[in-house]
Amino acid sequence: MERAIGLFDSGVGGLTVLNTIQALLPNENIIYVGDNKNCPYGNKTKEQLFQYASRIIEYFISCDVKLVVLACNTTSANVLEELQLNYPNIKLIGVIDATCKDAIEKQVQKPLVIATQATISSNKYAILLKELDNQVDVQSLATPLLVPLVESGMYKEGIYETLHSYLDVYSKEIDGIILGCTHYPILKQQIKVVLPNITIISSSEAIGKQIHHYLTTHQMLNTDSRKYVSIYTTGDTEEFVYSSSGFFDYTGLQVKYLNLGD
Ligand code: DGL
Repeated sequence: MERAIGLFDSGVGGLTVLNTIQALLPNENIIYVGDNKNCPYGNKTKEQLFQYASRIIEYFISCDVKLVVLACNTTSANVLEELQLNYPNIKLIGVIDATCKDAIEKQVQKPLVIATQATISSNKYAILLKELDNQVDVQSLATPLLVPLVESGMYKEGIYETLHSYLDVYSKEIDGIILGCTHYPILKQQIKVVLPNITIISSSEAIGKQIHHYLTTHQMLNTDSRKYVSIYTTGDTEEFVYSSSGFFDYTGLQVKYLNLGD
């Protein structure tokens, strides 16, 4: 029960999932890995994504974690099943199932899914949403400029022009937007300005309930109080803190460098 939950993403985006887990599961120990060395994941091949994720999962196994959360839509969409087959002894949870269920529960009928190129190319969101409700009219858009704007910290200046250029054309056609990348909730307030009166579904928020449910039904919830949250990046620690300090509270925490090899 005291064993940690392992969480990973290509960079700071998965910290939005960490925020959710910290709030919903206050006793859990957590290890976070941001794979900034290989960021962005959105333009990578399936083979590359499998290789990056495998290295991180093997690191988590060496830390004896009790569960691994793919705090990343791109790997959840493209390599989750293959990874689970390759690592049958550790439970892996991706973010997409919970996000689609959340959209249907909130009765979104005409969603626009925005995500990385690799997530959109997989068509995973459209397939799952249709499986849950075949009346849903799904539109999908790859928005590859957004992750670099978040990772560089440029989003802090306001990136309205980019958001308008992506989203304006959809504003009259949709009743919801699915943030199908864990970097995008960082832009939620800005997206709200560009698309007012539209339901926003966030993959980073939806996943919390599923993790809580899994740990509860498997009697794996930590009953002791939290002892640590460890945050690692395979990239530059200062850049990592700079780009995430606007939405993540580092009080008492330090980001460490993790070398996972070439
Ligand atoms: N935040 C990740 C996702 O949810 C990866 C984005 C990227 O590195 O391109 O897809």
